[in-house]
Amino acid sequence: MSPIALSDFRSVVFFIGAGMSAECGVPTYRGSGGIWAQYDYGEYACQRAFDRNPRKVLDFHELRRKTVLDCAPHAGHHALAKLQAAQPRLHVITQNIDGLLQRAGVHVAAELHGSLWRVRCARHGVHEDLAAARYATRACPDCGAPLRPDITWFEDMVDEDVFARAGELIAGCELFVSVGTSAVVYPAASFIPLAQRKGALMVEINPEATEASKLFMRTLREPASVALVNGFAP
Ligand code: APR
Repeated sequence: MSPIALSDFRSVVFFIGAGMSAECGVPTYRGSGGIWAQYDYGEYACQRAFDRNPRKVLDFHELRRKTVLDCAPHAGHHALAKLQAAQPRLHVITQNIDGLLQRAGVHVAAELHGSLWRVRCARHGVHEDLAAARYATRACPDCGAPLRPDITWFEDMVDEDVFARAGELIAGCELFVSVGTSAVVYPAASFIPLAQRKGALMVEINPEATEASKLFMRTLREPASVALVNGFAP
């Protein structure tokens, strides 16, 4: 199959899931070796768990930060950065919190589920943290309250401004490329049928079929590191 020429489209969205980071060594959430198979998110990644035991939750997230720092972006990340440099109307929207896209020089228009690299105080808002495994501090510098990861956990409300921005870009795109998502977590997963309803050319990059596969006209049953290098041209 010849590469898809991005210049044929006025606007392009790449919609990224955990599968994009899998080949870097960052575990996905579901499937074999998935994070939620090893850790109960009710114990480590929700506000209840944080209120109950902030130290345990922050220790878990420091472990995830270390895992990510031990990984590097793959050829697919770098290919996406190159495509974006050639095609300014290529927007990247990610569900991932690992920051690997940004480390490869990709401009990310929306981080739907926040970031491992930010922390927040309920009263004083978000603070950028270090690109280090350990948090610079676990207490808000303004009020001393425990800082929590700036990540959208299960049972959290999503960031409406971030989702509105993502929705706008997706509703207006002519090519929608889903990369490495199981498409089972809402409201993020609802962006896939939105793109389809708006008439975008739908492409899925995933070695396995997903619940949303029927919405895609083209599927690249390959790993992201291969499909992003071979499947697209500026
Ligand atoms: N290349 C492309 N896709 C891959 C690769 C790869 N090398 N390896 C695995 N995948 C696919 C899997 O087949 C699966 O469909 O990546 C997908 C990962 O699915 P999930 O682990 O469910 O990750 P994701 O869809 O991003 O999860 C969405 O769930 O837990 C929440 O907030 C968390 O953002 C996350 C959300």
